[in-house]
Amino acid sequence: MDIKDKIDTLRDSINKQNYLYYVLNNPVISDGEYDRLIKELEEIEKQYPEYDSVNSPTKRVGSDIQNEFTQVAHRYPMLSLANTYNGEDLNDFAVRVEKEVDKESIEYVCELKFDGTAISITYIDGELHKAVTRGDGTYGDDVTTNIRTIKSIPLKLQGDSYPKELEVRGEVYMPHGSFNKLNNQREEIGEAPFANPRNAAAGTLKLQNSKEVARRSLECVLYALYTDSQLYPTHTKNLEAMKSWGLKISPDTTTFNNIEDVISHLEKWGKKRKSLSYDTDGMVIKINNISTQKALGFTAKAPRWAVAYKFKAERAITELLSVDYQVGRTGAITPVANLAPVKLAGSVIRRASLHNAEQISLLDIRINDNVYVEKGGDVIPKITGVDLSQRNIFTLPIDYITLCPACDSTLIKEDKEAKHYCRNSNNCPPQIIGKITHFISRGAMDIDSLGEETIELLYNNHLVQDIADLYTLTKEQLIPLERLGEKSADNIINSISKSKTIALGRVLYAIGIRYVGATTAKKIAAHFKSLDKISTASQEELLEVDEVGERIAQSIIEYFANERNREIIAALQIAGLQFEAPEIEKLSSVLAGKSIIISGSFAAHSRDELKDIIELHGGKNTSSISSKTSFLLAGDKIGPAKLQKAEKLGVAIISEEEFIEMIK
Ligand code: IVH
Repeated sequence: MDIKDKIDTLRDSINKQNYLYYVLNNPVISDGEYDRLIKELEEIEKQYPEYDSVNSPTKRVGSDIQNEFTQVAHRYPMLSLANTYNGEDLNDFAVRVEKEVDKESIEYVCELKFDGTAISITYIDGELHKAVTRGDGTYGDDVTTNIRTIKSIPLKLQGDSYPKELEVRGEVYMPHGSFNKLNNQREEIGEAPFANPRNAAAGTLKLQNSKEVARRSLECVLYALYTDSQLYPTHTKNLEAMKSWGLKISPDTTTFNNIEDVISHLEKWGKKRKSLSYDTDGMVIKINNISTQKALGFTAKAPRWAVAYKFKAERAITELLSVDYQVGRTGAITPVANLAPVKLAGSVIRRASLHNAEQISLLDIRINDNVYVEKGGDVIPKITGVDLSQRNIFTLPIDYITLCPACDSTLIKEDKEAKHYCRNSNNCPPQIIGKITHFISRGAMDIDSLGEETIELLYNNHLVQDIADLYTLTKEQLIPLERLGEKSADNIINSISKSKTIALGRVLYAIGIRYVGATTAKKIAAHFKSLDKISTASQEELLEVDEVGERIAQSIIEYFANERNREIIAALQIAGLQFEAPEIEKLSSVLAGKSIIISGSFAAHSRDELKDIIELHGGKNTSSISSKTSFLLAGDKIGPAKLQKAEKLGVAIISEEEFIEMIK
């Protein structure tokens, strides 16, 4: 078999496994076997870059190269749908349709209405060509690079019955599991959580880093086919064809001959939808026959042959008794409503998030108001409005707090932030306890014999006032504390001691610098290799690390500029934590003594991989070009200023292939 056939066969078989796993939910090989196929293909592709393809399944992981979203005109306008809310509205829809077509011949198709963000995907010769967001309906953003990371979207269609060019439309959404995971991670690093899976999906599709998109596990379901000449007589036949090409379509598409049956089907789904692992905000009812669709046509905004039926939001009304203010690990203040207990979607609600001061004033919420509480997906209940008809004339607007409820220091609200913050981070008890709890958590120092309650106990007994104090605790101090005996005291001391072997990347994450998540911390550690270097790095040096942008760089600099933080870090160093990344064993010394600049983007390796390769072969990767630079490793899109400077200084410029040749 020649190499191109080998590559094609591997790509086809990986695409097939993807389809079985992500579209049919029916994997037939293990994750390990799948990973081996990917690795094998990656290696061959690296050796034969001439067969590179943007639609290779190895590209699903995304890349760090910044996306640019160009505007693209939609070939067919992307319209919206008229909404209906009850049986009466649906009967009106049926009457309008029946005026145009013979009642006996009407077929209604009911589908789930996925609550995400609309996408249009074009395939040419069966290959994924372009993916565009709805935008204003006429122009959208080209998000192809991000869409390629969604594994339920085929990069190549199956079979051979598809037309040369076709467009499919659907909804990109974030399942509850991925949404909750993402929000937990965001809260952990002090970023505001997304309000709902729809916002999370839309925000993710517009990310500049497709690697991050890949990590967030979006999904996509397709519900419409557009071709220049009509292929099939009905919408359901279109869906069947799409399914046969490997596209993921709605799991429940049912056809009815009359609107009464449609209405009872919708009622059934009103309950059933709660068991789904993603959000639906309703159902869509479409006329099945395409020529009937054409006869009915469009209004300026929406088709006349389809309507959306919106499920009633699960809503309850109850009295707002008071507002508490919670202080998070990063000092973010969250107002929380205390409510008169009320039943909603099977549970009793006593508290609901009010998000921030702006939200409170926007909804004009006052104490003793009767407020609407809603619950969507797995999200914590929220207050969505006030029943003004029941408002007592003596109520007053809520005076948002100006001082921290825990430490009395003045709260700060910056323009670009939605929340107020307490900046007294090292003396504010909930922030201290939050920081220590984060420090011991599983992805950080993994001190599993301690939990939040024990941390509070240690804090309240003045034994631990910051993360460094953990390392001076003694068994004798612990034993007298309530709920702790000799055995648990031993366990605590042992697991604290064990944490001293945790690698630098996790230590950096554990100390809790705002915006520095676990992955970013690992990358920073791999780049600088010592905490000392990280703590003294300039903004420019920090920005050299993949994934570090200005906001993260600034946050790191601020952290180490704080004297109290420096004292804590010094104490951690004395305690013996890993402040250096271990030296890796070198593969060769062909680059010994060479200082090398990397610039641009590369086909076969990420910049971080190239840095690792340089070090493995004894070289040094540096950031600013000078006459001492041995050579400039130049990729695509390299800045002209850098090239000019290299030429002026007589620094050799070499390509990725030449570099790989050099170390072979
Ligand atoms: S059909 C011409 N089917 O809901 C419009 N839309 O509120 C064709 N949506 O813009 C749309 N699930 O983004 C259709 N099964 C489904 C849908 C669906 C979700 C979205 C879509 C549309 C919006 C209208």
